[in-house]
Amino acid sequence: MCGIFAYLNYNVSRERRYILEVLFNGLRRLEYRGYDSSGIALDADRTAPSSSASPSDAPYTGAPPLVFREEGKIENLVRSVYSEVDEQDVNLDAAFSVHAGIAHTRWATHGVPAPRNSHPQSSGASDEFLVVHNGIITNYEVLKETLIRHGFTFESDTDTEVIPKLAKFVFDKSHDEEGDVTFSQVVMEVMRQLEGAYALIFKSPHYPNELIACKRGSTLILGVNELSGQQNGKPFHDVKTLTTNGKPKELFFSSDLCAIVEHTKNYLALEDNEIVHIKDGSVSILKFDPHKEKPAFVQRALSVLEMEVEQIKKGSYDHFMQKEIHEQPHSLTTTMRGRLKDGGVLLGGLKEHLKTIRRCRRVVFIGCGTSYNAALAARPFVEELTGIPVTMEVASDLLDRQGPIYREDTAVFVSQSGETADTLLALDYALENGALCVGITNTVGSTLSRKTHCGVHINAGCEIGVASTKAYTSQIVAMAMMALAIGSDQISTQARRNAIISGLTSLPSCVSGVLKLDAEMKELASSLIDSESLLVFGRGYNYATALEGALKVKEVALMHSEGMLAGEMKHGPLALVDENLPIIVIATRDACFSKQQSVIQQLLSRKGRLVVMCSKGDASAVCPNGSCRVIEVPGVADCLQPVINIIPLQLLAYHLTVLRGFDVDQPRNLAKSVTTQ
Ligand code: AGP
Ligand code: GLU
Repeated sequence: MCGIFAYLNYNVSRERRYILEVLFNGLRRLEYRGYDSSGIALDADRTAPSSSASPSDAPYTGAPPLVFREEGKIENLVRSVYSEVDEQDVNLDAAFSVHAGIAHTRWATHGVPAPRNSHPQSSGASDEFLVVHNGIITNYEVLKETLIRHGFTFESDTDTEVIPKLAKFVFDKSHDEEGDVTFSQVVMEVMRQLEGAYALIFKSPHYPNELIACKRGSTLILGVNELSGQQNGKPFHDVKTLTTNGKPKELFFSSDLCAIVEHTKNYLALEDNEIVHIKDGSVSILKFDPHKEKPAFVQRALSVLEMEVEQIKKGSYDHFMQKEIHEQPHSLTTTMRGRLKDGGVLLGGLKEHLKTIRRCRRVVFIGCGTSYNAALAARPFVEELTGIPVTMEVASDLLDRQGPIYREDTAVFVSQSGETADTLLALDYALENGALCVGITNTVGSTLSRKTHCGVHINAGCEIGVASTKAYTSQIVAMAMMALAIGSDQISTQARRNAIISGLTSLPSCVSGVLKLDAEMKELASSLIDSESLLVFGRGYNYATALEGALKVKEVALMHSEGMLAGEMKHGPLALVDENLPIIVIATRDACFSKQQSVIQQLLSRKGRLVVMCSKGDASAVCPNGSCRVIEVPGVADCLQPVINIIPLQLLAYHLTVLRGFDVDQPRNLAKSVTTQ
């Protein structure tokens, strides 16, 4: 969904041009999340500046900031900013030793994408308070009515606009009644009034060079780049320094880590109800409690980010989706790194809870989209290795039904981003019902990883393409390791566990092998380019592969596609079969192989246009008279075969998208993480 980025340089001289580029670049890094418009705010040359004068001396001291907002792609914003600064004669070479800039990509929830609805939203004339917001304010109508009664006029259709106007209202009132009021006091009072989910950053010329960020629900990261210890050109980071020390530093706020990794590895993920106030290069963190008059100061240590800049760049690939498909041998290796030990599995994030999980009445897998499919792929081996019944829940459906979740359940939440609204609401629901909640996520510091009792980070590296690819395979492998760890006390399954562990070890090289099908899948894509629809039949371990393959085709190639349980073929879908409709049948070796052979025969006898995916050497076994197209894939332990089988389908979806001329990394109408219901 939308993105927030802010940059504050302190005691280090930065030209306006540089600041602009840092902000634009931050937005470009967040682009993959999906957005429909964008905006930024930075300082004008101050006519009557007074960083020393308190607001009480001069109620409105700084010059109004420069605010730019545009609909559409970030590059629209970039173009219009440069042409406007040209027209307005803004000096891009002006240097600031301290400066606070904010930026935003918007995914509209209230009001169409348009410059007036883009963020920063403003308190009104002179932009006394500017706000960028990610999320939804649910009580905005009431607040708006009240503010209108107090003389405010609204220019946008957004829910967000009430926030800067409320800040101005609070500021003016406190100022008249009490004189001095700090920026954090203003924001705290605003928070007291807001309902809904939000990550917010406030900028105000009343508080020049200060920024305030706060959040409830949506994620916000603070990045700190301490510049004081430049040694041999390399910055030396003092991870503890959050308080004033007068040293030059750069501070960043971002909706995710991808936008700060090129600046610093020292970060802090804000907790709900925390308010971060940056002033004079120092960071104070306050905990907001609606029931307490005064907030408490909290101490937080910075974490060190384990991510390399290369992860957020395309390198030699044309698209992130392509890069992410091809890096799966590596991402799977990092998922397993340090976790397969002495013939067993060691998952640090789970080990304290294994006993409880073994005693649970059932495992409930909960997720959305691809993450749900990954859990579905894991279901058979979790049942087999643990002996615990597994039920599947699409997060939104669990919430719609308010389905039963018990204290004796282990609820496993699967989410690449760790920020999907439906999944997080289902997590709140499961926590309320007393279940043990386990998270499987790719995003360290995400809401999911913070709110669950325990879990496994899949460590697949930053996934930027909206279509999830490498996270899917890493999720399955993480859940395979989880199943092995839970079942590790069972002697009867020891041999099976050993076989799976050795399968896991050979997985990255098998994935390298299956990636060699790239050209073949491109060729297959060119033969399907004009098709209106595509069916994918799978069963057993590969039912999930059919669903996930079809989802990939649907979401990026914008072609109708359905994944189906082959066992259901005769109960309806068979009616669709003719010589035109392309059908992919997954028939790799496992206990369901002979059943799939008979499915193929039945489809062929109805003149079905088949593409069969089979294990290497099985072409004639699945397609005796060469009447269908065959994709041969390397074989691994049957329960891990979904990791291999999805890859040709990911490649197919990728090539279909390119050939059909659609946007690969940001498919129409989709966002990387769906942070609203
Ligand atoms: C994946 O290709 C999709 N973009 C989508 O289905 C996604 O998996 C789903 O929205 C869940 O996201 P999450 O894994 O971040 O929770
Ligand atoms: N609800 C706000 C709006 O529509 C913010 C949306 C977002 O998260 O981008 O403007």
